[in-house]
Amino acid sequence: MSLIRSLRSVLRFRTFEWNSTKRRLGSVANINDLRLLARKRLPAGVFDYIDGGAEDEITLGRNSADFARITFRPKVLADVASIELGTDLFNRSMKMPLVLSPTGFTRIAHPEGELAVARAAQRAGIPYTLSTMATRSIEEVGAVSSPEARNWFQVYVWRDRDLVESLLERAKTQQYEAIVITVDTPVLGRRERDIRRGFLLPPKVGIDTLWEGARHPRWTFDLMRSEPITFANLSGSNVGDGSSPVALADQVNSQFDPSLSWNDVAWFRERWKGPIVLKGIQRIEDAKIAVDSGVDAIAVSNHGGRQLDGSPSPISIISQVVDEIDDAIPVLCDGGIRRGSDIAKALALGAKACMIGRAYLYGLASGGELGLDLSIALLREGLIKTMALTGTHSMQEFSRDLVATPRSWRS
Ligand SMILES: Cc1cc2nc3c(=O)[nH]c(=O)nc-3n(C[C@H](O)[C@H](O)[C@H](O)COP(=O)(O)O)c2cc1C
Repeated sequence: MSLIRSLRSVLRFRTFEWNSTKRRLGSVANINDLRLLARKRLPAGVFDYIDGGAEDEITLGRNSADFARITFRPKVLADVASIELGTDLFNRSMKMPLVLSPTGFTRIAHPEGELAVARAAQRAGIPYTLSTMATRSIEEVGAVSSPEARNWFQVYVWRDRDLVESLLERAKTQQYEAIVITVDTPVLGRRERDIRRGFLLPPKVGIDTLWEGARHPRWTFDLMRSEPITFANLSGSNVGDGSSPVALADQVNSQFDPSLSWNDVAWFRERWKGPIVLKGIQRIEDAKIAVDSGVDAIAVSNHGGRQLDGSPSPISIISQVVDEIDDAIPVLCDGGIRRGSDIAKALALGAKACMIGRAYLYGLASGGELGLDLSIALLREGLIKTMALTGTHSMQEFSRDLVATPRSWRS
């Protein structure tokens, strides 16, 4: 009896969670845990499509690893009883300095796909960027959005400019707030994991995929049960909506306009009166040209290491970019963010907000909409904790003296 009593005093039992998704997510402590769960749940080819980068994945690795090269200079005894995450962008408030980046073919991670991402962003009070290559249309996302939602539309520039114009028109009708022009993809980067696996979109079922599908029955069952996944924004266009399997590289290389240049920004300005974000700035001098071209914000980004391998990590050039443009327009930091403390570092170096791609895709793949909420919550809580531990109360207090960076990153 006394043995049982002493055992009871040291053992702790968790109450059993009947909802299997909540049970699975219950032991997640960080974004990397979500990544490991996603790797378990997804067929290898699908996981690699999400997780992988271009060529040797040097840039992919640096995007995250460079955050570890920054050291905080924390202030103590700073009365951090109250911490405020709110900020504003394009004269509208957002609940935290975070934007969900565009990701093509999101429903491949989970059938709830882009609709769940849009809803999660709305709940969190942050913008969501729908990709041109989304598997839900501009209108379908519009239909799940309240008037307060901040939907942005990411534009890939097709050779067929009438198609681009009609996409802009549709986004305007659905009250999207901003467009994001991706400028790092004149051709598709060489994603060697996809090449090795012969990865096609939508995934084609062959003997090899049957085996993978059998090893991941939940994913396979969900895929078979849900409507066929296609490039929903392109349905009815002559560029192909992905209803028959294509290698993404073939589609991009034959249909995207490689002649896109700075002159084209004016073409967009004439057709889109709301905010324009240029996503994919990777060089300090280009940031200045972007400001002169009249855009409203830039996202320093290398497409999450999926395009040019060897381009610098966004975090390593962000402070020089901000200096170069003298804070003329907001600078967003996109790539490698896996923790709230990463967001804090980017803010200290001058970013107005951060953007995330894989961090939310791992959540979506691990647990649908609940997993998405969890990824955003992990980043929010991490940011709050970092602010408390560094003696920072609000967005206005982030400044460069909060961090020490490698000498080569400075202007
Ligand atoms: C699976 C996947 C699909 C993506 N699709 C697009 C896309 O359609 N358009 C785009 O501009 N960027 C796309 N990106 C890049 C993201 O918008 C973002 O720049 C990148 O994911 C940021 O890096 P992170 O994943 O380390 O956060 C994609 C990224 C991933 C991982």
